[in-house]
Amino acid sequence: MENQNRRNFLKAGTALSGALLLSPALSFASSPEQEKVNRDLASPSKLLSRTLGTGKNSINVSAMGLGCMGMSWNRSFVPDRKYMIQTIRKAYEMGVNLFDTAEAYGPFVNEELVGEAIKPFRKDITLCSKFGFVFENNKVTQKFDSRPEHIRLVVEQSLKRLKTDVIDLLYQHRVDPNVPMEDVAGTVRDLIKEGKVKHFGLSEAGPENIRKAHAIQPLTAIQTEYSLMTRDPEKDIFPICEELGIGFVPYSPLCRAYLTGYINERTKYVDGNDNRGSLPRYAPDAIKANWALIDVLSSFGNERGLTVAQVSLAWLLAQKPWIVPIPGTTKLAHLQENIWAIDYKFSPEELSALTTAVSKIGIVGNRYPTAQTK
Ligand SMILES: NC(=O)c1ccc[n+]([C@@H]2O[C@H](COP(=O)([O-])OP(=O)(O)OC[C@H]3O[C@@H](n4cnc5c(N)ncnc54)[C@H](OP(=O)(O)O)[C@@H]3O)[C@@H](O)[C@H]2O)c1
Repeated sequence: MENQNRRNFLKAGTALSGALLLSPALSFASSPEQEKVNRDLASPSKLLSRTLGTGKNSINVSAMGLGCMGMSWNRSFVPDRKYMIQTIRKAYEMGVNLFDTAEAYGPFVNEELVGEAIKPFRKDITLCSKFGFVFENNKVTQKFDSRPEHIRLVVEQSLKRLKTDVIDLLYQHRVDPNVPMEDVAGTVRDLIKEGKVKHFGLSEAGPENIRKAHAIQPLTAIQTEYSLMTRDPEKDIFPICEELGIGFVPYSPLCRAYLTGYINERTKYVDGNDNRGSLPRYAPDAIKANWALIDVLSSFGNERGLTVAQVSLAWLLAQKPWIVPIPGTTKLAHLQENIWAIDYKFSPEELSALTTAVSKIGIVGNRYPTAQTK
């Protein structure tokens, strides 16, 4: 099975490099080109799959999804839209079938991008989006709105932007302290009955809210930050996911690129389009202080032909069978590299040795400024 995956992956990689060589403009404008795209999209490679959630609230998805946020927002540069459509479609060809976006990304434009990109294979994928932030002057604020009428309004708008009639997995983006969780879950339950949503998830919710929501509308997944630098969910969220049969989707699984070894204390973030500039962990001193982690990951990877990003993602996948990370990327090469991490299987001894080594490193710098932590 693993060899088969590797072969399919190599096949996809070869086809991809061929396509890149033959078509330097990467344009979808001409119709013969479009026909070829449609033919390729008709038979995506098979990646190892995983299940999020239980019973009729479960979905089977590729073991790794694609986080699409950075294609339009918060990761400094915004690449040309047509290349991002190309990247999302290549991800599907390579076997990725879980795509993550949100009303807040942009805001709004990321949902439009994802909706356009997935059109040719809409029915074959799991499309995830989120509601719950308040926007002022077309900017996300740190205010929340999960009133039932607002959830309904956002879903209608998201469906239009996503060019679809159903959202497969709808998350509350942040818990709204002013709206009881029972009301939020009840609204999503009704939207499921009406056929506008298929499954329900929460992002960054604590155990109490997870229980309250699950009692009204069983949850399929919790999406919360989790990586080798942010391991808090292991304490309070994994036990409840295990108990209630809920899947877990780590966001920022590469700690916003830190866990690739690609950013350093000289990295510049574009003002106004990169939250890393305001996050304590990306201050130059913290970046230097945490470098011991990159040293451990690269020495583990160097012996095994893996990059730092691949070790980071493979470690996440090895934690629980119901974990499906959603690394974000704007580069086909990184996409390929990240997906390949699915194939790496740790022996119990090496997993334990790596975990022991990384656990000894105290991480400097909070993941969010105090005001933004739940
Ligand atoms: N629920 C929430 O509140 C929440 C919050 C944040 C994010 N998310 C979701 O999680 C997804 C991923 O999170 P994220 O973008 O914050 O963090 P991430 O996936 O940890 O990191 C993305 C960054 O890593 C870089 N990268 C990816 N693969 C790489 C590789 N192999 N080598 C070198 N660099 C690599 C990307 O740059 P390149 O483009 O250059 O590859 C990008 O800057 C988002 O797209 C979004 O869907 C959810």
